[in-house]
Amino acid sequence: MIFGAILAGGIGSRMNITDMPKQFLNLGDKPIIIHTLQKMLLCKEFNYVYIGVHEDWILYMEDLIKKYILSEENKKRVIIISGGKDRNETIMNIIQGIESKFGESDEDIIVTHDAVRPFLTSRIIEDNIKYAIEYGACDTVISAIDTIVISENGKIIKNIPDRKQMYQGQTPQSFKISLLKKLYNELSEEEKNILTDACKIFIVKNQPVYLVEGEISNLKITTPSDYKIAQAMIGGINID
Ligand code: CTP
Repeated sequence: MIFGAILAGGIGSRMNITDMPKQFLNLGDKPIIIHTLQKMLLCKEFNYVYIGVHEDWILYMEDLIKKYILSEENKKRVIIISGGKDRNETIMNIIQGIESKFGESDEDIIVTHDAVRPFLTSRIIEDNIKYAIEYGACDTVISAIDTIVISENGKIIKNIPDRKQMYQGQTPQSFKISLLKKLYNELSEEEKNILTDACKIFIVKNQPVYLVEGEISNLKITTPSDYKIAQAMIGGINID
């Protein structure tokens, strides 16, 4: 089976404009997370789309689905799960939810996506599914736009790597569930605390992660200025 997994367990501390986690803020006529969910539901290859939300926001999320997801068929494809203390734990909680409902299978695929990237495209999702089936793990990236400089002390430049080899990571990140779980369970508690990016788990274990081409427009809403850009992209307001 193929599962979508929307990661929405965070509280958006860097947004800092309301007490509400940023994924619930409105963008145009609906909350950010509903834009993201609708994009995922458009992909018919997903048997189910899981959403991992902080437990205090589960009832709120259920109400949003009642309000915005109108087709009964799609409502049945959405399953809400309690998020974890970090992003990878939210993924693992979703995997636990999948396995307790559907059992374990070596073939199952999970396409994990940040709730706060509402401009995801169907092409990106389809490429993720294809690559995860073929290779076991993939990450969505764009070529680095700016030159990347390395500094160890934050004061002087140590090195300027060749920009052609530099990419910026986005999501989705997609995996064979059995492989991700196996590698995650091999990590020590200390490693789990450091490895906040699911693809990095594959990298430290010397497992290949294939690249899927992302889009500059697949923006992550992290700060108030990202939120303004997203509002402009949706046609709501002009950027100051
Ligand atoms: N996320 C999650 N579970 C967590 C922490 C984060 O599912 N325990 C999700 C967020 O909800 C978000 C995505 O991971 O959709 C990317 O994380 P980030 O932008 O860092 O979100 P927050 O953790 O909410 O933001 P901040 O770091 O500013 O607090």
